[in-house]
Amino acid sequence: MSKEQIIQLPKIEDVRGNLSFIEENGHIPFAIKRSFWIYDVPGGEQRGGHAYRVTEEFIVALSGSFDVVLDNGVEKKTYHLNRSYYGLYVPKMMWREMNNFSTNSLALVLSSTKYDEADYIRDYDQFKNLVL
Ligand code: TYD
Repeated sequence: MSKEQIIQLPKIEDVRGNLSFIEENGHIPFAIKRSFWIYDVPGGEQRGGHAYRVTEEFIVALSGSFDVVLDNGVEKKTYHLNRSYYGLYVPKMMWREMNNFSTNSLALVLSSTKYDEADYIRDYDQFKNLVL
């Protein structure tokens, strides 16, 4: 799978509270090597502003809402995430920014790689040169 897309997750509805889950290589198209989360984002702040050479990610708004802006070097699309039962699959080599965080939002990010600064492309011009 190489195209970015919203993926719906299972939602087990229950009067005691709902439950959703993610299994690697099933609901999302990669094996999970790392999880991290972004929280306590001050109003108006932005995260991201980079691409990854090989890392794929799956991003879920576990709480609250935020926007993920994806740019493949040719076109930009904004995805508004605001439910914990779906997420955004982000393939490798996509410039991404995250902004418009609501108060108390919590972004869960599942990653196909362990943290490696060498996998980051943090210069937009370099990204454009690599994708075009
Ligand atoms: P970065 O990915 O640049 O944050 P964002 O894209 O959300 O703005 O990471 C910020 C800092 O955190 C950077 O110094 C690297 C460090 N970091 C880790 O050590 N491990 C991780 O898994 C991640 C995602 C970041």
